[in-house]
Amino acid sequence: MGRFKGQCVVVTGGASGIGGATVRGIVAEGGAVLIADLQEERGRALVAELGSAALFHHTDVTREDEIAGAIALAEKCLGPITGMVNNAGIVGAVGSIMETTAEAFDHTMAILSRAVFLGIKHAARAMKPRRSGAIVSLASTAGIVGGQGPHVYTMAKHAVVGLTKSAACELAGLGIRVNAVAPGGTATPMIDALAGTDSQATAAFIAQSSPLGIACMPQDIARAILFLLCDDARYVTGHTLVIDAGLTTGGTPPPFYSQDADILLHAGLRGIAATT
Ligand code: NAI
Repeated sequence: MGRFKGQCVVVTGGASGIGGATVRGIVAEGGAVLIADLQEERGRALVAELGSAALFHHTDVTREDEIAGAIALAEKCLGPITGMVNNAGIVGAVGSIMETTAEAFDHTMAILSRAVFLGIKHAARAMKPRRSGAIVSLASTAGIVGGQGPHVYTMAKHAVVGLTKSAACELAGLGIRVNAVAPGGTATPMIDALAGTDSQATAAFIAQSSPLGIACMPQDIARAILFLLCDDARYVTGHTLVIDAGLTTGGTPPPFYSQDADILLHAGLRGIAATT
């Protein structure tokens, strides 16, 4: 498949986890990627693995000039950018709201929300002359419901969902699509660090709490990001695609659904006359 042939995408936080899987996916489908990340060693190792289609640029997404610089470098070395993935992330401030400091709040928001705003801003500026492009940002199930993450993380991810809709409204007129993905727990180094487990134990832990009974892997999220980036999603904008094995749908179905399957079948066929 060559859905990304001739395309150039900037992926923040592309050295690890979901970002790394996204970078690999784009290159496998013929695209070029600039990895904008703080992790020099991991980023350069990924470039060594992928060859000339990938480039690493040391970038701190809390700095506007560095985000703008990464996009400019991608355009100079790899060609006009067609895609931007605002993926860099941390768990950030944890604990009771009563104990969370303003400094921890600011640092978390700077990476998880402000950087997404800046990524959309500078990607849109670069894409505007060609009146096309696709931007995908990482939200989370913590951006859909409460209780799925720490307070500031939850607030920041809700902001990503809101900004995705707002920016999509403005940028549709320029032919630029803006979407988000909202993963549930995914087996990445971020969760290894949070849970204090190795990658195998993290995957087992995630599988245990998944309604589908399987672990979400970085590739599962990358596939959705690639879909939203490419022309398969040419009519999709302002959307947050939740990828959580149904975790945020409201829980596992009550017994009613399985025991009285006939009622549902008839409801589908006859509408309000379901039980007659
Ligand atoms: P990860 O820790 O494997 O990767 C995150 C990357 O972001 C790292 O390479 C890190 O160096 C980079 N990064 C952190 N701060 C940065 C900064 N200031 N400037 C540039 N790069 C920076 O984590 P993972 O899990 O792959 O997370 C990726 C995104 O997915 C994050 O936005 C996260 O919030 C989101 N997400 C992850 C979930 C999970 O369960 N793993 C669930 C829902 C959302």
